[in-house]
Amino acid sequence: MRLAVVGNPVAHSRSPQIHARFAAIAGHAVDYTRLQSPLDRFVATVRAFAEGGARGCNVTVPFKGEAFAACACLSERARRAQAVNTITFEADGWVGDNTDGAGLVRDIERNAGVPLRGRRVLVLGAGGAAAGALDPLLAARPAALVVANRTPAKARALIERFAASAARLDVPLSATPLETPGADFDVLINATAASLNGAVPPLPPGTLRPGALALDMMYGAATQPFMRWARAQGAIARDGLGMLVEQAAEAYFVWMGVRPSTFQVLTELRREVDAQIDAAGKAAASGTAA
Ligand code: ATR
Repeated sequence: MRLAVVGNPVAHSRSPQIHARFAAIAGHAVDYTRLQSPLDRFVATVRAFAEGGARGCNVTVPFKGEAFAACACLSERARRAQAVNTITFEADGWVGDNTDGAGLVRDIERNAGVPLRGRRVLVLGAGGAAAGALDPLLAARPAALVVANRTPAKARALIERFAASAARLDVPLSATPLETPGADFDVLINATAASLNGAVPPLPPGTLRPGALALDMMYGAATQPFMRWARAQGAIARDGLGMLVEQAAEAYFVWMGVRPSTFQVLTELRREVDAQIDAAGKAAASGTAA
């Protein structure tokens, strides 16, 4: 079965490695590659790949919105997120799905062991990453779901799309500025791009209750300032590596109809990423490039 991840840039993507491990463990024959698409040729690039007999592809930055627009059929979670990270090529067109939020919830509930039902949950950010998370987070039935963003109007616009779903599930959903999110959250999810610049969103003291879970959707050296901040608040800090593996597992399930086991793959990746963070830290301390 032929699969790929399509992005630009895409060289950094760990998806080929993750899917190759899923396939090896399950005994499936899967050929999963990286496809770097020119910025103005996403649809043509994916079409050429599909016509070669592939089963589907993952979509990463900056094409998730374009993939959403290009799919003939969408899952409910992709429709509401307005972003597609998983395409399946069917005879009657491309079927778009978004497995990011499901991967996040699975990582929180199963890997980190924190049930979301009845908990106070705070999401930072109102871009594509936050949008992908909201539907599965609501479905987990938290006691409250708050979206806080640097530009509050974007948070308000985002939650409007999910208002009907929140009402149906009886989950209070609200939007706030980043500086005044409310207090005593049990779970914090950083879906901003702040870690890309080594920045930590300016949350007031008391935002988290002691022992809360604070998760950054990113991983690697860039997330270390957020992780240190979270620990200083008395929270349990977690990066986005588990989410990465779980969203991949969900995509694998969409294509193959079987759910791969993620424990071993996550353990292996964790070891690799920790070694890279260590090496980067040592290189920085000695003034050499990593
Ligand atoms: P993505 O698709 O990764 O979510 P995006 O759509 O560009 O990327 O959204 C980035 C999010 O990170 C936004 O919510 C942005 O806040 P604004 O809406 O105010 O732009 C947020 N963000 C980026 N850098 C940030 C920073 N240094 N501190 C706080 N929020 C930040």
